[in-house]
Amino acid sequence: MSIVVVGTQWGDEGKGKIVDYYGEKVDIVARYQGGNNAGHTVVINGETFKLHFLPSGILRGKFCILGNGMVIEPKALIEEIEMIKNRGIEPNIMISNRAHVILKKHLEEDAKDKKIGTTKRGIGPAYTDKIARRGIRIGDLLDEDYMKERLGSIAEEYITYGRMLSSYIGDTTTTINELIENGKSIMFEGAQGTYLDIDHGTYPYVTSSNTVSGGACTGTGVGPTKIDKVIGIVKAYTTRVGEGPFPTELNDSVGQKIRDNGREYGTTTGRPRRCGWFDAVLVRHACMINGVTSIAITKLDVLSGINPIKICTAYELNGEIIKHVPLTRDMYKCKPIYEELPGWDEDITNAKTLDDLPENARVYIEKIETLCKTNVELVSVGPGREQTIVI
Ligand code: IMP
Repeated sequence: MSIVVVGTQWGDEGKGKIVDYYGEKVDIVARYQGGNNAGHTVVINGETFKLHFLPSGILRGKFCILGNGMVIEPKALIEEIEMIKNRGIEPNIMISNRAHVILKKHLEEDAKDKKIGTTKRGIGPAYTDKIARRGIRIGDLLDEDYMKERLGSIAEEYITYGRMLSSYIGDTTTTINELIENGKSIMFEGAQGTYLDIDHGTYPYVTSSNTVSGGACTGTGVGPTKIDKVIGIVKAYTTRVGEGPFPTELNDSVGQKIRDNGREYGTTTGRPRRCGWFDAVLVRHACMINGVTSIAITKLDVLSGINPIKICTAYELNGEIIKHVPLTRDMYKCKPIYEELPGWDEDITNAKTLDDLPENARVYIEKIETLCKTNVELVSVGPGREQTIVI
């Protein structure tokens, strides 16, 4: 079984927990794009881990792969590996020799960004060098002569990183495919979210990689026919960090309430996230382009006490009603058309089944299913692992 887990909004959908849920059921967890712009917090037995490069499967002893589609800052990765080792976990990882290296100059360049609101981790500049065919790849760190030729006086530092990482570096593509052939199960863990995709997102306010499920194929070297299932993670409302269009954004007390209830502050940068109503137009389109086979709804508990709740079902663009996402500058002109639903006041964080939920919460879930034309298979009602309703 090969599954892809992908965010259907602008990232921060609560992937960490869902990925932990599915990750437990598979043998291998692979990341296929991005770098340490991602961040997730996993709580295991009351202990909190903040991870940026490593999939959370690492904490459960899974074999974790950092795929060729990623960009990696060696120093930051080494620190993350040390952090988990110091906490008694021996990392079982393999890093693609073809993932690209984030160099110091990439960090310096990203620090100058004023337009996009990047995470300043050097992601965009590293991918720029990759596409311009002048990047340095992780495997290159092991070739001392080549490193000196490419990096001159700063080569030594990177050669040292290469030595420190050498036992983890390898041909991940062949390894993954052999494991799949031998019946091993794998989860591809997407970072960021659909609308941060360089091709399918709200360009230019996007990240520099293919965050959509298709990225799992190019970012690891596994063919599309090998993917069995795509889980779309859908937060019960919408958030985004950084700049860019956001039709259902709430700049009022309801938005602030969602931010406070949902603790919507970035894991990587600590920035307050922009918050708004659930946008079904956006998620339906995401289900389409990712080929989502089922949805996992997260953070439903955050909406307790908000009444009424609105769902965006269409946009008005230049006087016309549209039901698709115009991923052009027209996106700024889209005005959300809302359907109002009654909210619920009950604390739902202890719900174990759908029947434990107030009727209005069940109606909300059904509405998401109908509007997004996709079945819901998980509903998360709190950060804990046990706070998950399996449908
Ligand atoms: P970059 O990926 O650092 O280049 O940032 C580009 C855009 O993607 C910015 O709007 C970031 O806030 C956003 N972004 C990058 N990574 C994440 C993430 O993991 N969650 C949410 N937004 C992200």
